[in-house]
Amino acid sequence: MNHAISVHNLTKRFGSFTAVDHINFDVKQGEIFGFLGANGAGKSTTIRMLCALLESSDGTATVGGFDINKEPDKVKESIGYMSQKFSLYEDLTVDENINFFGRVYGLTNSELLQRRDWVLEIANLRGSETRITGTLSGGWKQRLALGCAVLHKPKIVFLDEPTSGVDPVMRRKFWELINDLSAEGVTVLVTTHFLEEAEYCNDIILINAGKIIAGGSPKELKENYIKNPILEVQCENVIDAMTLVESERWALETSVFGTYMHVMVENENIAREKIQQLLSEKNIVLNRIEKITPSLEDVFIYLLDEEEKKK
Ligand SMILES: Nc1ncnc2c1ncn2[C@@H]1O[C@H](COP(=O)(O)OP(=O)(O)O)[C@@H](O)[C@H]1O
Ligand SMILES: [Mg+2]
Repeated sequence: MNHAISVHNLTKRFGSFTAVDHINFDVKQGEIFGFLGANGAGKSTTIRMLCALLESSDGTATVGGFDINKEPDKVKESIGYMSQKFSLYEDLTVDENINFFGRVYGLTNSELLQRRDWVLEIANLRGSETRITGTLSGGWKQRLALGCAVLHKPKIVFLDEPTSGVDPVMRRKFWELINDLSAEGVTVLVTTHFLEEAEYCNDIILINAGKIIAGGSPKELKENYIKNPILEVQCENVIDAMTLVESERWALETSVFGTYMHVMVENENIAREKIQQLLSEKNIVLNRIEKITPSLEDVFIYLLDEEEKKK
């Protein structure tokens, strides 16, 4: 199978610091591929190498069948890139931004007219053509930026944290747009730190300190990495309750989500009893204990914790 993106031992060193450390992964054609990891993990550096904007120190990759080191110009022609830093010109109007990017991508006048219509349509910006881009809200700007990044109909699109600073409603709308692109056969590689967004991806990799520590579909990640039961515990004083529980040997992992906590345990029934006992000793009112299917958040907390333990 021809992969849209194929990465082999890709590495970036800045002086003695290795930001991206021999990573390997493949992205299937037409899929939405999520690239996850904390700030500083190496996501943007990887994307910049894959867009042939930054030279790799070691290893290589093919993007749309072109080698990033040997055919950087071909790579650039095949892709759309929405950088993490804002890529639009704030002081230009919506129309002027579209025209600018159309010229950068070398579109003819008739192509540009047609694509401009399409961008205004998908970004829902019809009627706002003459608005100054800087006066649009974050969500509208992101949609315009994505529209501009795909003006030339690239087959592969890189989106670097496209939804950071965007409210939840606009984030959902933005993802509808990503789904539309994917439905048209466009391959989308997207970075995010919103884990609920990772659920919308076909495949995901998790990067930590420049190394890939897990990969697979959301379903595979939940099934393959977490073997122990997870209990969701809703009680009063959840922080106190967590402090009590996390010092117990049978509590392998604890994390608080607002008014409840998740506890990964060795044995479900024993843990249920122990939790009930511990909380009642401290007069903490327990409302509910329930075994749950792990979320991606549980998986990533677990995996990152395991990495911490290795240090
Ligand atoms: N040009 C550079 N020179 C030196 N260090 C850099 C440079 N660019 C990125 N880094 C470092 O590489 C690491 C990875 O950065 P980055 O790829 O931006 O992470 P992410 O996008 O996952 O937040 C960080 O520690 C960052 O400080
Ligand atoms: Mg980044």
